[in-house]
Amino acid sequence: MKIIIIGASGTIGKHVALALKHSHEILTAGSKSGDYRLDVRKPGSIKSFFENIGSFDALISTTGSGHFGPLSTLNDANFRIGIDNKMMGQINLVLEGQHFINPNGSFTLSSGVVFDDPVLQAANLSAVNGAIEGFIAAAAIELANGVRINGVSPGVVEDAGHFFPFFPGHIPVKMESVVQAYIKCVLGAATGKIVKVR
Ligand SMILES: NC(=O)c1ccc[n+]([C@@H]2O[C@H](COP(=O)([O-])OP(=O)(O)OC[C@H]3O[C@@H](n4cnc5c(N)ncnc54)[C@H](OP(=O)(O)O)[C@@H]3O)[C@@H](O)[C@H]2O)c1
Repeated sequence: MKIIIIGASGTIGKHVALALKHSHEILTAGSKSGDYRLDVRKPGSIKSFFENIGSFDALISTTGSGHFGPLSTLNDANFRIGIDNKMMGQINLVLEGQHFINPNGSFTLSSGVVFDDPVLQAANLSAVNGAIEGFIAAAAIELANGVRINGVSPGVVEDAGHFFPFFPGHIPVKMESVVQAYIKCVLGAATGKIVKVR
């Protein structure tokens, strides 16, 4: 399969790429790294990316960031960081990519634990993850030609020690479990599902 991984240099993405590269053609992309460059915050950049790549069988998005900060400091401007990046960045990958993906292909997006198990200072990412999960449920019943869409919702990952102070009482999840969740979405048959890794 020709598989695009957006965010393949990241904490999670590099392990997903490693796990798939022996059996599949992997095209990696990021804003500063990878075989191809794109900025998911910019719809024009996403459009150019797909025009350059052409058809593909699967897209995995392990990108997406938001704003961490106390609710009392959130405002329209910093809330839009997560909306423009993690939410619309990933949604636009699907809206544009649906015109290039092969029949029976798949999209796999990244959500996260803070949607259904919130922590302090993560309201931006909680909201964005909820939007992504809603989009996946709706897109799954409308994508054409047998194309599937799913999401992975990791808990805080064992390799992401910089996040641990934000997640008191959360037991970090194994990277291997997170990697296999993405593989399940790509190589399995499900659509409209959120694979939670807790
Ligand atoms: N790590 C965790 O514990 C955890 C837990 C729950 C959910 N998640 C979610 O899982 C996903 C991956 O997390 P991660 O920790 O692996 O992220 P990460 O380490 O920050 O990596 C992000 C990846 O996205 C790329 N990227 C960043 N900005 C971009 C942009 N504007 N356009 C295109 N690519 C961009 C980066 O490459 P460049 O530098 O080249 O742009 C990098 O490859 C995220 O959605 C995150 O919210 C992570």
